[in-house]
Formats: sequence, structure tokens, C-alpha cells
Amino acid sequence: MNYSFDRHRRLRNSKGMRDLVRETHVHTKDLIYPIFVMDGNDIKNPVNSMPGVYQWSLDRVDAEAAEAVEKGIQAIILFGVPAHKDAVGTSAYDTEGIVQRATRQIKANHPELTVIADTCLCQFTDHGHCGVVQDGQILNDESLDLLVKTAVSQAEAGADIIAPSNMMDGFTTAIRQGLDEAGFKHVPVMSYSVKYSSAFYGPFRDAAHSSPQSGDRKTYQMDPANRREAFREARSDVEEGADFLIVKPALSYLDIIRDVREREELPIVAYNVSGEYSMVKAAAQNGWIDEEAVVMEKMVSMKRAGADLILTYFAKDVADWLNK
Ligand code: PBG
Repeated sequence: MNYSFDRHRRLRNSKGMRDLVRETHVHTKDLIYPIFVMDGNDIKNPVNSMPGVYQWSLDRVDAEAAEAVEKGIQAIILFGVPAHKDAVGTSAYDTEGIVQRATRQIKANHPELTVIADTCLCQFTDHGHCGVVQDGQILNDESLDLLVKTAVSQAEAGADIIAPSNMMDGFTTAIRQGLDEAGFKHVPVMSYSVKYSSAFYGPFRDAAHSSPQSGDRKTYQMDPANRREAFREARSDVEEGADFLIVKPALSYLDIIRDVREREELPIVAYNVSGEYSMVKAAAQNGWIDEEAVVMEKMVSMKRAGADLILTYFAKDVADWLNK
């Protein structure tokens, strides 16, 4: 026997050796934890399609934010579930809106926590679209004015980062300019830059009551088949002044995360979306997979693909697993 070959197994021989040569690490500080805030009192509503995820009223949400902080999570993103919906999403830009009140309250009680405000209209419009609808069309420029008002009111409430998720063209330019003119030059924009029209958002729409009442989001969110279009979307946002780029969903789009990483220098956020969460939960509840091992493998894969930050409903669990 006189074979000649590489001995890759030398570096896998023991846990210590494997730890020494590990290339990718997940840290609690990489995580962004989503919280759904709802108008009303004494509410902790379980979201049926997302075991472990709840809608919180403001009198109870601080306990949830405090738990995230205790675990070492540094950033949360707020999604609002308002009591009032209308055609133009008035409660999205109301100073007394659910996201604005939640932001003020959480920042007062946890000033060190970075509060990100999702900036969209779909939870706040009765038709469930992310912009103004006229004769069945989702109007672009007319929607921008409302998104700017929403972003400015969120910044006024104390949001540390504005995260527009609506996919209208020019939203980054409009929001950046609106924030600057209102005196919020220092507030960064985390753009949902590359957002595909995905069936993986199904459970979120239950949680946020944001399903479109007619049609779909295919005229504004991207076709999952397109790769070059992602570069154009990312480039527009960079040119328009975004500070972070989100790629969404994450796990079926790891190639896109890698591609964007290689083309752009801004921090990249992988949005590990609701459907990606619920599938793991369902399999774990059936005893078909090892939840911790599978979730940690997914976290590593998003970082390995090039993400700097991970927005995930698993954030508290991941923090626990990392801390143990
Ligand atoms: C709102 C918005 C959506 C998500 C985040 N912000 C839903 C959508 O576009 O329908 C999806 C998040 C998830 O599935 O976890 N525009």
C-alpha cells in the first residue's frame, strides 16, 4: 500500500482540533429578534403557524424585550398589528400608532437595545398591499409619500434604524431624504433591498394580519427565478444611500447572499423568514429532526454565505444555545 493523498481528517480528529480550524462563527450579537406588537391590553396571543411566536400588547411586551436583552440580544425589529386599517394605512404613520408607541416604550425601558422599525403599509391597509391601490394597480410614487411619513414618525418615536420592506422603487431615496429633512441624518436605513415574492412568508401574514385581500405581491417583490435582478436591486439601494442590505428569504437564497456579498461592501442581513421557521418547528415537534442541531446548522450556513447579521424568530433559542 503506497497511496498518496491529502489527509483532511487530521484536522477533524478531536473537538479541540475542529474548534481550532472552524471558519465560521455565529455570535449572539449577530442576531436580530422580531417582535409583533398589537393594539389592545393583556395580550400574549400565540401565532398558530409559528409555535413559540406571540403577538404582544404594550403592557406585556417589555417582559419579552427584557428576556431578549438578558440573553445578550442587541437588536429587535418591531412589526405592528394595528386595530385600525384603512385604504391608505393611516395607523402606519400615526404618532400614536402601535409601532411608534412600542418604540417609545421599549427605548425608555431598554435604551441600550437597538430598535429597528419595519416600514411598510401592508399591515395597516385594509387591502393588505404595501402601497396605495387604485383600480387594482399598486401605485409607486404615491406610496412613497406615505412611506416617508411612516419612517419619519418612527424615527421621531426613537427608532434606531428604519427598515423599509415595501419594495416600491425609490423607497430608499425618498426615505433617506425625508429622514434628513426631518433632522434624522444620523438614523440608518436597513433596506429590504433584495426581497423575493416568496411563499415562505405565509406564516408571517397570519402573525401580522397582512395578507393581500386580492392579487399578490408579484408586481413589486422579485421573481424567485432571477439572480441578476438582485444585483440591480442591491446596487440601486447602495446608490440611494442604504446603510444595510437585507436579502430575504435567506435559506433558499444563500447563493444570492453570497453574490451580493461579493459585489457590495455594506453589511448584509439574512432574513430567515417565517416559513423557514415554521418548517423546522413542525418537523421538530414531530420528533423528526434535532431542532438545536438543525437551527444552528442553518445559522452557520447564512453566515458562511456571507451574511453579517441574521434576522430570525429563533434568536432567543440561538442565544440560549450559544450561551450554554
Ligand atoms: C411586510 C413584510 C413581510 C415580511 C416582513 N415584512 C411580508 C410580506 O412581504 O408579505 C415577511 C417576514 C416573514 O415571512 O418572516 N412587507
